[in-house]
Amino acid sequence: MGAAVPAGARLFLALTLCLAAGAAEPDGRPAGRKVLPPPSNLHYSFGQLCKLKWTWNPAEGISSGCDLKYCSEILINGIPQDNREWTKKLFREEDVSLNEEVHFRVRSECKSDNTSEPSNWVEIFTPPKGAAGTAAVGINCTWYDLEYMICTWLPGRNASASTNYTLYYWYEGLGNHQQCQNYIYGDNFGCNFSLSIPNSTNVYPTISILIRDNSEEIRPVCANKNPTTIVKPGPPRIVAVSMIKDEIHLEWQKPGTFPAHCLLYQVELKDSKSDSIPPRDVKELTKAQFASVHPNTVYIVKVRARLETTCYSSSHWSDWSEEKSIGENTDFTFYIVLILTIPLTVAVATIILLVYLKRLKILIYPQIPDPRKIIKRMFGEQIEDFQGGPGDDFLNVNKPAMEEEISSLVWIENPESSTPEHEGQERPALQVKAL
Ligand SMILES: *[C@@H]1O[C@H](CO)[C@@H](O)[C@H](O)[C@H]1NC(C)=O
Ligand SMILES: *[C@@H]1O[C@H](CO)[C@@H](O)[C@H](O)[C@H]1NC(C)=O
Ligand SMILES: *[C@@H]1O[C@H](CO)[C@@H](O)[C@H](O)[C@H]1NC(C)=O
Ligand SMILES: *[C@@H]1O[C@H](CO)[C@@H](O)[C@H](O)[C@H]1NC(C)=O
Ligand SMILES: *[C@@H]1O[C@H](CO)[C@@H](O)[C@H](O)[C@H]1NC(C)=O
Ligand SMILES: *[C@@H]1O[C@H](CO)[C@@H](O)[C@H](O)[C@H]1NC(C)=O
Repeated sequence: MGAAVPAGARLFLALTLCLAAGAAEPDGRPAGRKVLPPPSNLHYSFGQLCKLKWTWNPAEGISSGCDLKYCSEILINGIPQDNREWTKKLFREEDVSLNEEVHFRVRSECKSDNTSEPSNWVEIFTPPKGAAGTAAVGINCTWYDLEYMICTWLPGRNASASTNYTLYYWYEGLGNHQQCQNYIYGDNFGCNFSLSIPNSTNVYPTISILIRDNSEEIRPVCANKNPTTIVKPGPPRIVAVSMIKDEIHLEWQKPGTFPAHCLLYQVELKDSKSDSIPPRDVKELTKAQFASVHPNTVYIVKVRARLETTCYSSSHWSDWSEEKSIGENTDFTFYIVLILTIPLTVAVATIILLVYLKRLKILIYPQIPDPRKIIKRMFGEQIEDFQGGPGDDFLNVNKPAMEEEISSLVWIENPESSTPEHEGQERPALQVKAL
């Protein structure tokens, strides 16, 4: 019978047998059907990082006509999962999360033999280590450019503030598991490790991530990730932007080591004055051009990349590239601002000049009456006696002369410094005087 029946049908038969037997036991067993002996000495061990391995000894006293298979299943937190398996092997290995209660059970079954009943289940329980609520939560890993992986997580609600989570990783073919060294402390905890899986087989192995603390209190937690679902390209780099007549030509560099046909780009061209043009999709190529752009406008361009789902089952957009601007802004507002600032600057300069000249006069002027001062000093005492202090005398004598000098300078300096535009300059100058 065995050879003639297709594998799928056999599996179906096995499944129905397994289920039917489960439903029938323990009471309604038809007389004459022998209950098989169960496997013995079931125990578990921890394998690589997130793997749990159960082993057992063969059931004894099985008749030679029995095609013996071991039917096993795993219950998580007491809930049966859809994971029954039939095997002739004496072990089963599975990825587990380590922060849940795991029940494993196995029994003997004879296939292609309807004269025997499956054995009773043999069961073993693996409790999680550490305290509830201390395991890291929200583990999120992203594989950048097929080069490095960054995983982030949050501390468990019951974990103490001093918890020092450490990340370990492993995948089939790596040999020993590795410890991540480059931790990131921000809003989330994180770690960055280089990860380049050889792509010879074209099928990436599952990556096991274990986050734990050396303290027994903290519950370890495992996350198993399919790398192709978490790949994210880095941002493309714009290498050339040019405007030829009314066309913008843009060229960028492909991120990472992805084959060109695996990449899809989105280019965004934004007009600094008005609305933005909808982003344009570009396949495979690393260049784009935009026709009939306005010549007197500044445009801002940026690019981002995504992987084709035919290559990787990941649809993360990369971050946007650095923005580049292109085009000349011959906007009249610039000139208007310029026209307004020139006279204003001249006016301010005039004030500064006036203040400066005033100070200069104070410094220079005393040199002119110097001979008089000398004479005054010569007859010092007598003049002092009948005119009051020498300081008062000095100020009284000089003040009118100084003012005259300055006001004459204002009217001389103003037309002199004014260059082509008369009207624009005089107004601010007058305003300043009024102030
Ligand atoms: C066992 O299966 C055979 C056919 O495969 C059938 O003839 C026989 O009646 C079955 N016996 C029982 C006890 O179900
Ligand atoms: C934190 O610990 C308490 C008591 O140990 C427990 O009842 C609670 O469920 C834990 N919190 C979480 C989020 O597991
Ligand atoms: C995980 O991180 C990536 C990269 O930062 C982000 O795009 C994604 O939305 C995150 N996913 C979740 C479920 O937080
Ligand atoms: C946390 O763990 C890392 C890696 O094991 C270690 O280098 C660091 O010193 C630890 N920090 C504290 C505060 O224990
Ligand atoms: C992660 O590491 C890679 C190289 O190992 C580096 O290029 C990248 O900038 C790092 N990222 C962060 C966020 O630290
Ligand atoms: C493997 O990656 C290299 C670059 O890292 C690439 O040149 C090669 O085409 C890739 N091979 C396959 C089968 O994807």
